[in-house]
Amino acid sequence: MSENTLGYIHRFVPATDHTVATTLLLLHGTGGSETDLLQLGRTLAPGAALLSPRGKVLENGMPRFFRRLAEGVFDLDDLRLNTHDLADFVEAAVAHYGLDAGRVVAVGYSNGANIAASTLLLRPRVLSGAVLLRAMLPLEPEIVPDLMGVPVLLASGRHDPLVPHSSIERLAALLQQTGADVTLRWQEAGHGLEQEEIVAAQQWVERRMMNAEF
Ligand code: MLT
Repeated sequence: MSENTLGYIHRFVPATDHTVATTLLLLHGTGGSETDLLQLGRTLAPGAALLSPRGKVLENGMPRFFRRLAEGVFDLDDLRLNTHDLADFVEAAVAHYGLDAGRVVAVGYSNGANIAASTLLLRPRVLSGAVLLRAMLPLEPEIVPDLMGVPVLLASGRHDPLVPHSSIERLAALLQQTGADVTLRWQEAGHGLEQEEIVAAQQWVERRMMNAEF
């Protein structure tokens, strides 16, 4: 059942393995919903708690996490506002559901990956890691945040028509400048995800959870 509390319609699935303290914050793509990424979350981190909000901005009826002016051209004021709104939701959900505030890892696809990247850059304390599937550079922050050691996986499609290589490379460079531990993985694919990279993301998450990196 979806909840409509804490400012977002969302799903919360408690951890099924009580030795796992990590929570995955699942952020869907344009036109998605709070149920879209639950299966992916289960695959990436079996046993972890899942927190999955639905984006509140509607584009022709399709939920998103922030407004855009055109394909790949973002309304930056709206992006900043919605980034803080989402970060406030995460903090409220951590308190409400009794989660470990130091172990919230975003898993975002497309528009969801872009707001996750924006959250890393504008609210660096909220996330302790991120899996960004088909992300692009959401904005240039005024101050480069301190993300020292925060693991970030960028899973990009070499033939993605929506994400220019220069944008993902700039995001990777910016995250490296913050001190984040960045892995940029290219897949021979477009904007859609391939099974091979989901397996690679699962192994990446598993390794970091085993080493208590998040
Ligand atoms: C965005 O608007 O965040 C990106 O263009 C990706 C998408 O189509 O959602």
